Formats: sequence, structure tokens, C-alpha cells
Amino acid sequence: MAASVASHLPLALSLLHTVATQYPGLTKSQPTTNVNTAPTAPSAPAPAATFSIALPGSGSGTGNGSGSSSGQTTSTAGTTSGAGAPMATPPTNSNNSAQCEHCHLKPKYHDGVKTHSYCSKSCAVNAKLANGNQKVSHGHQHGSSTPPSNCDFCHNRPKFPGHPFCSKACAKNASSSSYTGGNPQGTCQAPGCSKPTHVNKDGTCGDYCSLSHKTLGETLCIMCLKAAKQTNSHFCSKACADNAEMKGPMILEVPAGHVTFRDVADQFKTSWRHVGTKCPTVKRIYKIVSPQSSLAAYNAYKSSVEARGQFATNGRSAGNENRRWHGTKRECHLGDKGHTQFCGSQTCSLCCIVKTSFDLSLFGKKTGWGRFGKGIYTSSTSSKSNDYSTNECRSSLKAILLNKVIVGKGCKLIQDNVSLTTPPQGYDSVLAEKGGSLNYDELVVYTNDAIRPSFLVMYEA
Ligand SMILES: *[C@@H]1O[C@H](CO)[C@@H](O)[C@H](O)[C@H]1NC(C)=O
Ligand SMILES: *[C@@H]1O[C@H](CO)[C@@H](O)[C@H](O)[C@H]1NC(C)=O
Ligand SMILES: *[C@@H]1O[C@H](CO)[C@@H](O)[C@H](O)[C@H]1NC(C)=O
Ligand SMILES: *[C@@H]1O[C@H](CO)[C@@H](O)[C@H](O)[C@H]1NC(C)=O
Repeated sequence: MAASVASHLPLALSLLHTVATQYPGLTKSQPTTNVNTAPTAPSAPAPAATFSIALPGSGSGTGNGSGSSSGQTTSTAGTTSGAGAPMATPPTNSNNSAQCEHCHLKPKYHDGVKTHSYCSKSCAVNAKLANGNQKVSHGHQHGSSTPPSNCDFCHNRPKFPGHPFCSKACAKNASSSSYTGGNPQGTCQAPGCSKPTHVNKDGTCGDYCSLSHKTLGETLCIMCLKAAKQTNSHFCSKACADNAEMKGPMILEVPAGHVTFRDVADQFKTSWRHVGTKCPTVKRIYKIVSPQSSLAAYNAYKSSVEARGQFATNGRSAGNENRRWHGTKRECHLGDKGHTQFCGSQTCSLCCIVKTSFDLSLFGKKTGWGRFGKGIYTSSTSSKSNDYSTNECRSSLKAILLNKVIVGKGCKLIQDNVSLTTPPQGYDSVLAEKGGSLNYDELVVYTNDAIRPSFLVMYEA
């Protein structure tokens, strides 16, 4: 939900000592509002909007800022001189460390002529963002210069100072699912930015002030929600990755609108294959963060399968890793709004899997047998796994897991073989294909380390 981004903003801003006057009562009542709830009043300049570095997709012609205060080139932060050279030509390297000065994860980028300070554009932007924020915290505060405007929901009454709505009632209505008016003009959802959102030609408003902030907002690190994530990672930095793994196992909500949300929701949609049934709407997505040791065991298994099968050299993913669905029993409210804590029940399969991954020793607790023997079953078809997703609690949502699975060399089987306890000789998994006794595909692995839960997806029951 966009609100997850928004709800982090007051924290981010308070860290910068620029938080708006507190607003008792309202904030609590609108945790899920779809529009930005960040304070708008003391508008700090948004340093990121002044970067001349192009984020992917920026400058494509649709990214005009809205209003004179948000033009990409009319820089307010630029007046704080010394904000740094344009990042398209990062400052010459005055630091001898070979690692990126921002993430400290990857080597510095060498363009053939010189070595830059950062590994990537996203790190350059993040470093600039952090740098800009520091300047803001050095007392560079604006008074409330934006003229008072009316409530983003009713458009009738003036906003409560520092908030997009006039009242709790409007905040609540705006957050209710029946409200489909798009994002009324609020403030940019990018961290630390309080510029007004971009107004499209047709009069509707976006969530961000500019295309570069949209890109930033859609690629935020899911741990800190403050800086852009690295390509091929959910995190912006080693610090955030380490912090997450240290705190794992846990689930981290992925904001709606995030590239990762879209990616997972799209897979859910395109793999809903049961004809005559409507694909339910995905409401929430959480990244499952497993502890370091658990990921290490999975990666070791992946390496061994890759060494045998050489999938990567043939243009596939290492170990022929794929994402597959698994539906199971949920006893508690994990994944429902605000519920990110595991329950203590040993029989809540969902919590057990999210916490400690799949466990073959528990095989067959329910049915006592499996079509393809003693294995861990997943499907590429979300609507098939949906059949196995059950709630033992009252909830308007159902849960499904999207897992990373090492398929390796899969043995295609059409007929059941309930006696299997390992893949057939020479194979790493069983691909049960449609046809024979089976209506939809299944993938079976026979070792715990061949699979890890990756996302918890909540959809309309
Ligand atoms: C962008 O802004 C400029 C100047 O404000 C305007 O002339 C132009 O039409 C805008 N482009 C779009 C795509 O909105
Ligand atoms: C170089 O980078 C390291 C690691 O970020 C930092 O600790 C050090 O202070 C930097 N040195 C200079 C001269 O900027
Ligand atoms: C909020 O929504 C309810 C139900 O749709 C409506 O009766 C009420 O008037 C709305 N309140 C405001 C302030 O718009
Ligand atoms: C089941 O699998 C086992 C082990 O691979 C094999 O020996 C056996 O012939 C299979 N049974 C059937 C009915 O395919």
C-alpha cells in the first residue's frame, strides 16, 4: 500500500527535525489511507529532484513536475551551495576504498576512464539524497509557504494544518476501498519530499512530484523505505540487507505501486488459469525475510545443482530456479492488515513455513500421501494453489506463498507414483504435467533446501 511509504515519512521527517506540528488523533485513524498522509507544512526542499542524474525512464517526456516549485531544474536545494557536482559526473574519487561509498556492497563503477565514487546510479542518487537531507537538518527550514487548500477528499473544507484532509471522517473515507478517485493532489510520496504531486494533463494527480521521484518511490529499499534499492536486491545497502537478515525471520510489507508488488501481483494474475473463475484482487504483498543461515543452506544447494546441470551457462537461472505457488492452512491473521507477527501455534502451517521454511518431516500430516510421493508440492498455477489455501480464522483475505524453488533437471511425469521419496535417478525434481490424473501442473522437490518461501501474497477471499 502506498500508505506504507507514507507512514514512514513522518519518521523520516522527524529524524530530520522537520516534522510538522503534531496532530493528535488523526494520524491514528488513517493508517491505510491511500493518499499521502505526510505532513505538508514545513516543506523541506527535496534534494533528489534537483539531481541531474537521470534515473531509468526519466526525461521521457511525461515527467514534468507540477507547479513552479517542482520543476526538475528549478532547484531549491541548489541554493544550498556545495550540494555537490551534478551526479552525471560524480565527484572525482577522493577515497581510496574500492567499494561504493554509499552501499559499501559493490565495487565502484569504472567507466573505462575513471573510477566513480559509487557503484551505480541508484547509489549516487541515494548518496545525494542522504547528503541533501543532512543539509536540511542543518536548520534549512522553510516556513509554511504553501497556501492553504481544501481537503483532498471532500474538497469542501480547509485541510487540517499539515494534513491532506480536513477531518478524521474524510481521512477514513479516503482510505476506504470504495474510494476510487485516484490520488487527489497531495504531497509527493518519495521519502523526504513534500512537493505537490504531479498533475496529469487530464487533471488527475499522480503520487509523486516528478518522474525521478516516481522511480525512486517505486524502487525503494523494502527495509528502510528511504533509499532506492539495488538492482537484483530488495535492499539499498549492505547495512539494510544485514539488518533485515539479522531480524529475520519476518515479513516486510511491499508498498503497492512498488515494482516488486507489481511483479508478484502480475505473476498471480497471469498464472490464474482456472477457467470460469475470476482472479481475485491482490491486496497485500509481504517479502519474507529468512535468516542468513537458512538462505545460506538454500544457496549451497542451488550451487550444487547448478554445478551438475550448468543451467546458467545455458541462459537459465542458476540451478534453474523458478517461482512457484503454495497454498496452505492459516490459523491466525498473519498477513491481514497490521498483522506481521507469527502466531505460536505449531499447527498453523503458514506461520511455520514462513518462519522456518518447508519441512519434509511433516509430510503428509493431513492427507498421509502425495501423488508423487514424499515431497514438497508447489504449482506454477496460482488458482491451483488457491485450492489448498484455507483460513481457520475469520478474514476477508486468503494467503498464498510464492516460493523460490530449485527445479534443476525436472523429470516429467504424467502418472502418479506415490512411492517416490527422491526424484528419479538423474533428476532434481518432478514436474507433474497436466494430463493423466492431473488437471494442473505440480512441481515436487524432495529436499528441504530446494525451496524457500519468498513472498506472502494476500488476496480477496
Ligand atoms: C512540461 O513543462 C513545460 C514547461 O512548464 C511545458 O511547456 C510542457 O508542455 C510540459 N510537458 C508535459 C508533458 O506536461
Ligand atoms: C572513504 O570511505 C570510507 C568508507 O566509507 C570512509 O570511512 C572514509 O572516511 C572515506 N575517506 C575519505 C577520505 O573520504
Ligand atoms: C463518508 O462516507 C459515508 C458512507 O459512504 C458517508 O455517509 C459520509 O457522508 C462520508 N463522510 C464525508 C465526510 O464525506
Ligand atoms: C515409481 O518410481 C520408482 C522409483 O523411481 C520406480 O522404480 C517405479 O517403477 C515407479 N512406479 C511406477 C508405477 O511408475
